[in-house]
Amino acid sequence: MIAVDKVRLAQDFGQAANSYDQAASFQKKIAAELLVHSHKFMGVGLDLGCGTGQLSAAMSQRGLPVVALDIATGMLQNARSRQVASHYLQADAEALPLASAQFDWVISSLAIQWCHEPARVFAEVQRVLKPGGTFLFSTLGPDTLHELRQAMVTVDGHHSLYEFAGLNEWRDAIHRESSEWAQAGLWQQPCECEFENVGAVMRALKQIGARHKAPVQKNLRGRGWLNALALAYPTQARASGRLIASYDVIYGHLQKPL
Ligand SMILES: C[S@@+](CC[C@H](N)C(=O)[O-])C[C@H]1O[C@@H](n2cnc3c(N)ncnc32)[C@H](O)[C@@H]1O
Repeated sequence: MIAVDKVRLAQDFGQAANSYDQAASFQKKIAAELLVHSHKFMGVGLDLGCGTGQLSAAMSQRGLPVVALDIATGMLQNARSRQVASHYLQADAEALPLASAQFDWVISSLAIQWCHEPARVFAEVQRVLKPGGTFLFSTLGPDTLHELRQAMVTVDGHHSLYEFAGLNEWRDAIHRESSEWAQAGLWQQPCECEFENVGAVMRALKQIGARHKAPVQKNLRGRGWLNALALAYPTQARASGRLIASYDVIYGHLQKPL
């Protein structure tokens, strides 16, 4: 659904692998939420878009064998160096080089919004799941970072952030190429994160590897631009000297028929 250059995306995420964990407080919250919903998982699983492997590690600690999969070499190397999973695979979630019907569960946090055609991901996940298997995921919706987007539009007349699909588009994608889900629960839950200032929001995006749609022009990156963004940041999202950055999180819990 979004036009993303996957080679550049894999490079950006890969280069951020060593700074990811310290900047990923939002991503850790969302992974924790998925872990609550995965407490009944048993058998062999796949962590799709594993990043540095926080979900793989948690599932391995429960004694479950996990394949950690990511498109970015750097992320996978980081995950492997910490032995978070049983196997590691560099691959694209839209074309899984995996045999059919081999996983009891697939989990994915904040990765599939980067795919060209999420419908392909749902079809691929359904293919690799065993009958009765579960796909639990989180992804991002269109209101993600709306305050920063608004500030960028005020300052530059446009913004350079990715725009993600809405709940209805995700629902369509789930059923487009793989209509046979026994259960398909989808829910949306905003998550507000506090930052010291706009510079800290931009730094966190860079440190986790989630760059902009187009590179921000160098002459716009300076302190003057950040000051202008800070002034343009919506006043309702500023409290006690701190800024709120909102994420529009969409969760899904799907079950393949028996
Ligand atoms: C924001 S990180 C989330 C990482 C991890 N799931 C977590 O919760 O910390 C997104 C990850 O998705 C991976 N990714 C993006 N597009 C992908 C694709 N098409 N196939 C596989 N991995 C992908 C990125 O390389 C990155 O490691």
